[in-house]
Amino acid sequence: MAVERTLSIIKPDATKRNLTGAIAKKFEDAGLRIVAAKRIQLTPEQAGKFYEVHKDRPFFGELRDFMASGPVVVQVLEGENAIAKNREVMGATNPKDAAEGTIRKEFAQSVGENSVHGSDAAETAKEEIAFFFSGLELVG
Ligand code: CDP
Ligand code: MG
Repeated sequence: MAVERTLSIIKPDATKRNLTGAIAKKFEDAGLRIVAAKRIQLTPEQAGKFYEVHKDRPFFGELRDFMASGPVVVQVLEGENAIAKNREVMGATNPKDAAEGTIRKEFAQSVGENSVHGSDAAETAKEEIAFFFSGLELVG
């Protein structure tokens, strides 16, 4: 296993309910280190650009507007096998399918408002980190 970095987003449903700290604790308890973090408000255009891969899916418009509906906290998580580990800590996309103890099982409100985003592969992690952070902001 190699040390990896992955992009995490704490979504507006979670920041609104004051869950930033509770979610960050889940990452840290799993051995993931938060090496960069900022709280920002996305425009619908920026949210749409981030989720461009889903632009032809029926839920795209709703997803874009939801991601721009309130502040998000974007983070870079680092650790052994960080991409897969973060996906494990997040749980399944639909909270109904998420395992006990995962973020989505405990906190998600629906398949759309599911509290967190996490990169799904090495290449997307690289692109998604660069979407939000400059090299200078990755302090380790
Ligand atoms: O976030 P994840 O990688 O688990 O799932 P995805 O398939 O990449 O979908 C991205 C996001 O779109 C999800 O996290 C949901 O917020 C949203 N989504 C939705 O609203 N309805 C669906 N049927 C599937 C995904
Ligand atoms: Mg995804």
